[in-house]
Amino acid sequence: MSVKPMIVAGVMSGTSADGVDVALVRIGEGNSSARRGTRGVASDRIRLLGHAAFPYPRKIRDAVLGAMNASSANVADLARLNALLGELYADAVLEAQRAFRVKADLVGCHGQTLYHQGEALPFLGSRLATTWQTGEAAVIAARVGMPVVSDFRPADMAAGGKGAPLVPFLDYLWFHDPHVGRIVQNVGGIANLTAIPAGARAESIFAFDTGPGNMVIDALMQELFGQRFDRDGKIAASGVAIESVVTKILKGRFFRAKPPKTAGREEFGREFVREFLRACRGARKQDVVATATALTARSIADAVRRFVIGKPHGIGVRSVMLQRRTDPNYREVILSGGGARNATLVGMITEQLAPLGIVTRFSDEFGLPSEAKEAVAFAVLAYETWHHRPSNVPSATGARRAAVLGKISYV
Ligand SMILES: Nc1ncnc2c1ncn2[C@@H]1O[C@H](COP(=O)(O)OP(=O)(O)O)[C@@H](O)[C@H]1O
Ligand SMILES: [Mg+2]
Repeated sequence: MSVKPMIVAGVMSGTSADGVDVALVRIGEGNSSARRGTRGVASDRIRLLGHAAFPYPRKIRDAVLGAMNASSANVADLARLNALLGELYADAVLEAQRAFRVKADLVGCHGQTLYHQGEALPFLGSRLATTWQTGEAAVIAARVGMPVVSDFRPADMAAGGKGAPLVPFLDYLWFHDPHVGRIVQNVGGIANLTAIPAGARAESIFAFDTGPGNMVIDALMQELFGQRFDRDGKIAASGVAIESVVTKILKGRFFRAKPPKTAGREEFGREFVREFLRACRGARKQDVVATATALTARSIADAVRRFVIGKPHGIGVRSVMLQRRTDPNYREVILSGGGARNATLVGMITEQLAPLGIVTRFSDEFGLPSEAKEAVAFAVLAYETWHHRPSNVPSATGARRAAVLGKISYV
């Protein structure tokens, strides 16, 4: 099948609530079979034309963080935030188009997650899982004059999945290799990995959240230093991590749980940070930040050891799992997300993984800039949806079946 190429604007705003990323991506199919997945567009048909980041203005960031952390929020304000973010996303797309002199045909907008509960829990006599992304797609469509695909997660959840992670679809397309097993590690607010064994088919990759990425570091930087984040990891580099605190936290429920698993502010938000500060009481401020940085690095390395290359635990693990968990071919970890710019964190991750024979590389080296990767992913997912094709990876989300993701708002 040959489909006309499209330019898609992928719009991502993650749990860090740092702002909006827009990637303008040319996606099209010819008859190429190079690096084509078992489904989806071939990776050599995806070209990044430009990426722009738009930090949230202070007031809006505070409102977003407030809404995400609130145990009870004002419904009117949440409805207003939905409309406001729609306007903001539209502005970001228009601005990116101007900057790169590109006119897109379609928008894929993830939205801002206000709440994500991948696990079914009791509620009013039912048991259900749910997710909520805000940022009104109808507003975006009207302002930019293009159809918008949004709200990608619910279709996967309705099919029994956790609604996350969705980026493995792109990870597979871009990074699978016949000879090298790769661990694609994104460090956003939350850190998540996609394990792609050498020569794997799309159905045999797996992915899960490893724990906090920058979320705890950012919160502590705000609390202790009045800064949004630890630029280049300088503060962490000037401190010493408290190993006993890291070890104790890693015994917690989330870290021990087997994949698939997802995390968000519900796990590593305000409450967690309060506990973390209590555990570190008496320590110097820079040691607290170093400890949070070590927690991110250690939780990633632990996850790799336990769930990716480690010995399968206990009996009863299905043979497929057994095979992929003992796959000896993982040789590279490919870092992306804002955390890839934190030199101290990257140093710690590298130090932890080197003894396992795993070399650190960056998404940028593969032509996919660290900060742009997730936005590119939502452009590709939107493209698949536009062509009525499924794009969840059931082995990553735990869904019972493949699902076409998202909703379409027309102009
Ligand atoms: N130069 C840098 N040094 C250290 N950390 C950085 C740097 N740039 C970005 N970050 C971190 O990355 C975070 C944003 O990462 P991002 O991948 O956008 O996450 P999300 O997807 O959750 O929005 C920031 O909040 C910050 O913690
Ligand atoms: Mg971000």
